[in-house]
Formats: sequence, structure tokens, C-alpha cells
Amino acid sequence: MPGRIPESFVDELLARVDIVQVIDARVPLKKKGREYAACCPFHGEKTPSFYVSPQKQFYHCFGCGAHGTAIGFLMEYERLSFPEAVEALAESVGMAVPREGGGSAARDDTRPLFEALEAAEAAFRKALRDSPRAVNYLKARGLSGATAARYGIGYAPPPEAALWRELRARFPEAILERAGVLLRGERGPWPRFRDRITFPIRDRRGRVVGFGARTLGEAQPKYLNSPENVLFHKGRLLYGLHECLQREHRPRRILVVEGYMDVCMLAEHGIGYAVATLGTATTAEHIAQLYRLTAELVFCFDGDRAGRAAARRAAENLVGQFRDGWEARFLFLPQGEDPDSLIQQEGTAAFERRIAAATPLADYLFETLSEGLDLARESGRAALAARGRKLFGTMPESVFRDLLFQRLNDTVGARVHGPHLPAPAPPRAVDAELAMRRPVRWAITLVLLEPAAAARLPNLDPLDDLNLPGIRLLLALVETARNHPDLKGGHLAEHFRGHEAHSQLLKLLTYRPPQGFDVAAELRDVVRRLFAMAREQRIETLIRKSREGGLDDQELKELNDLMRNPSNTMSHPTDA
Ligand code: UTP
Ligand code: MN
Repeated sequence: MPGRIPESFVDELLARVDIVQVIDARVPLKKKGREYAACCPFHGEKTPSFYVSPQKQFYHCFGCGAHGTAIGFLMEYERLSFPEAVEALAESVGMAVPREGGGSAARDDTRPLFEALEAAEAAFRKALRDSPRAVNYLKARGLSGATAARYGIGYAPPPEAALWRELRARFPEAILERAGVLLRGERGPWPRFRDRITFPIRDRRGRVVGFGARTLGEAQPKYLNSPENVLFHKGRLLYGLHECLQREHRPRRILVVEGYMDVCMLAEHGIGYAVATLGTATTAEHIAQLYRLTAELVFCFDGDRAGRAAARRAAENLVGQFRDGWEARFLFLPQGEDPDSLIQQEGTAAFERRIAAATPLADYLFETLSEGLDLARESGRAALAARGRKLFGTMPESVFRDLLFQRLNDTVGARVHGPHLPAPAPPRAVDAELAMRRPVRWAITLVLLEPAAAARLPNLDPLDDLNLPGIRLLLALVETARNHPDLKGGHLAEHFRGHEAHSQLLKLLTYRPPQGFDVAAELRDVVRRLFAMAREQRIETLIRKSREGGLDDQELKELNDLMRNPSNTMSHPTDA
């Protein structure tokens, strides 16, 4: 097991990483005043409400409320775990992630696997050039050398080929096995893919994580895939996604098809925005990932029964998480055709016309819901109402969902009530006025805005006994800011990942001060008020105690001092 990542390393890493660069590399940003803006990658929108603050090292979308730090962004955007996001950031600035507790780093675990897969991919590509039979197979299918190169298509030769000896000389068998390149046969490790065309499957970052491999002849199965392993997760990976994004960073739409060959042949004919699942249904995770990259998905299915069933499953996974701003359409191909055969037959323009004419999600849903029902009769319409209510009831609140219910009403000619859901609270920026009435919360907001100002505050020990919620958190934040004066607000919040207050801190980070706002002065001010409150509270405690049983000499002196001269018993914050 990889050990824990030391907190000090996260600090050091974040100090070297600029959130603007991290996000800009994935979502191109435009400078807007002191911040950077873009259309939000987490929900569909046409005007930018996604802002990145270099001062805070923080991003925030005013449209959907998404917010966080560079690490949080990578976790969300690339669906990485915390250690993976740290690894990715570290890699981007050439740092190695140390681990506590003697465990090896996750990257050290997987790095040899990536290396072995990369070597195998290069060897397969070379083997393709050396195999006229494999080249002819691809040519006969209509694939050009350029497209084959673009997708890294290769050829895995039979087991006796030199390629396998060379790979095994370069990598330990255990690594090749774990990478899925070799399998454990009865007489030892054995090439998994033999005499097959190879389609490298890449992760979002373009690294080969496995292969799909097609027989050139009639061998069964027709396609072999890498086995599920640490790198290869069918439910998450999409064939061709990396290549699609290479071509266009933010494609207007993405076409989801069923086969590797379909993706390649569509690209061959100029449709480079197709991706394929790896012989599985489209999962909710696939869908969520794709809508981070585009606003429109067109699901393409064979016209047969299997295609219909696959469409139904995709639709279920789609409506379960559907958000306003997402577009989805369904394209059913004629019986016996797939995108590969069709685009070769009728050409790019005709295929694009099919895409343009694909069935919108709402129409598709009503079509399938009405299947087998006679809507001319009350019983048929009532059955439709029941089905619709059940399906739309699974959807998250959205305008689209309201419209589906409305259409259901219109279609059945009666009012169908959706299950009552509480309206979500509208996203709200922190209100300074309100925050003033909650001084601790306000102080925390200010510390996050400018940790350097917090580092300059005087000793806050007198606030230690202050009986207000959040005071411990405030003191811990100021302490952290003092120890790491270079940290930005977002970095400070990173320190509290795993802490129950972490998400609260991220929310407070979304506060944007008005122009000309003096954070340091505001902070001194609110701390002064907290000192006064602490003083009042202490006086009250001492008075109560004197009534109950009396004070000792020292307490009596403290009370006198407090009453007489507040300002010299508790130092006021100064700019020093
Ligand atoms: P298809 O059977 O539709 O094949 O499988 P295809 O993509 O049209 O392939 P060609 O045109 O005959 O070369 C669609 C997808 O299902 C998975 C693969 O991912 C394939 O691309 N599949 C299919 C397998 O995993 N194993 C198989 O044996 C067959
Ligand atoms: Mn095919």
C-alpha cells in the first residue's frame, strides 16, 4: 500500500503550482480583471460564469456553484482521487511524491506498468509495418496509414515472434502480466494477443492503459480486450477520447459508438469526434465524464434488438443524472449496418445528415415509454402516465424534467404530478453583512482571502476560551498561515481536507470582496471585536465565580484590570 502523502509536501507542491496554468491547460481561460474566466467545464453554458482567482488559488462557478483548489479541480475534472491529483500536479512540475510510513508511492507502483504498455504499443506499431498481411487487412477495410498512425493501431504477432522475446527481455514477466500484455498460461506466461490487430486504449492523459485486439481471420472471440486491472477500467475508459480531444479541445458534440473500428473509420472520413465504449454499455461515469467536455452527446446504436437494449440502458444512465444544459440525441442505424459500414457506403455528408436528424432525448423517452401502448385509449394513456412518472421521478430537479412532466400532462390529457422534491437552495455568495453578525465566520473568510494578513496578527491566545462555534478552526487557520506565510487561501483550505470543516472553508473561499476592499484592515477589525467579546465573556465568568464562591487574589486582580483598562490586558491587533 502506498504511504500517506506528507502534508508538508502538499504545501511545497501547491506553492509551485499555479491554478491558472493547471486549469488553462484543460479549459482555456481569458483574463477578466484580476481573475480569469471561461465557460464552466462542469455544466453546459454559453456565457462564462467560471472564474479562477490567482490571488486565492481558487476557482468558482457562479452558474453551478462548483468551486475548489487546483487539487480539487483535477479531482473533479479528471475524476482523480486525492493522491492521483497530487501525483498529476507533482508530475507537471517535475516533483516526486514522497510517502510517509515507508510505503512506495502509487506512481512507483504503476509507472513500470505504463512503461511496459508504452513499449508494447510501440512494438506493435512497428510489427504492423513489418506485416504485409496485417497492413493489407486494414487497407482492405478502408483504413489509411495516416488514420492507423493517429490511433496507434498495431499488430500483435504470434508468440514465436522476436517482439515477445524483446519485450520479455526488457520487462519483468510479473510487470508484463500485471499490465495485461502477458497472461499466465499453463506453461508459464504467454502473449495475450496473438496474431491480432491492436487498438491501444488510452486514458484521458493519453497514456496507454490497455488494448483491444481484433483477429484478422475467424478466430474467436473476434475482439480480445486487456483484463480489468489497476489501470484498465472498462466502465470509465472510452476508446478514442484522447484522440478526439487532441483534435479539438472542446468538441461541440461527441458521438458515442459501439466499436473500435467505427471510431477509426469515422475519423478516416473526417468525423473525428467519435468515441467507443469497450464492449460494454455506456455507464453513468462515461456520461458524466463526457459532459464535462462537451454539451452534446449523440448515442449511436445498431438498429437491431441489441442496439435498442443498449440505447435503453444508456438512456437510464443519462436521465438519472441529467442536468439542464446537456443535449442528448439517439441515432439508430439501419438493420445490419454500423457507423463503419454506413459511412463507407454513403459518405460523410450523408452520415452527418443522420447525426443532425438524430432523435432528441425527450422524443426518444416518449417513444420508448409509449411502446406497446394504445394512446387512443384511456388505459393506454394512464399506463404512459405511470411509466413517465416513474422514470422522470428518478431525475434530478431541472427545467428539462419539468418540461418532460408538462409534455406527459399534454400527452395523457391529465395532470400527472411529479414526486414532490424540495427546491434546492439557490447558490448564494457569502453576504458580508450577514458575516459581520457572525464574526468568527467572517474572520475565517478574511483569513482565507489573505493568509499573509492573518500571519501578521498578534497572538490570539486570549481567544482560546471564547465560546463561539468555529473559534478553534479560526485559530488553527491562523496558526497554519503563520507557519506557512506564502500559502494562498486555496492552499490553506487544502490543509483541512478530511477535516469536517473542509467544505465549509471552500464555500467561504467563494466570497469575493468589493473593489478596494482592505482585507488586513477588516481582519484587524473583526479580531478586535473578537477580543472584546472574549473580554466580556471573561468578565462575566469572573463575576459569576465571585458570586458563587469568590475569587482568588490573582483572579481579583485580573477582573480589576479587565474592568479598568481593557486595552492593556488584551493587546489589540496592530499592523506590526
Ligand atoms: P462488433 O461485433 O459490433 O464489431 O463489436 P465491430 O466493432 O463492428 O468490429 P468489426 O467491424 O467486425 O471489426 C463492437 C464492439 O464490441 C466489443 C469491441 O469493443 C467491439 O469494438 N467486442 C466485440 C468485444 O469486446 N469482443 C467481441 O468478441 C466482439
Ligand atoms: Mn463493424
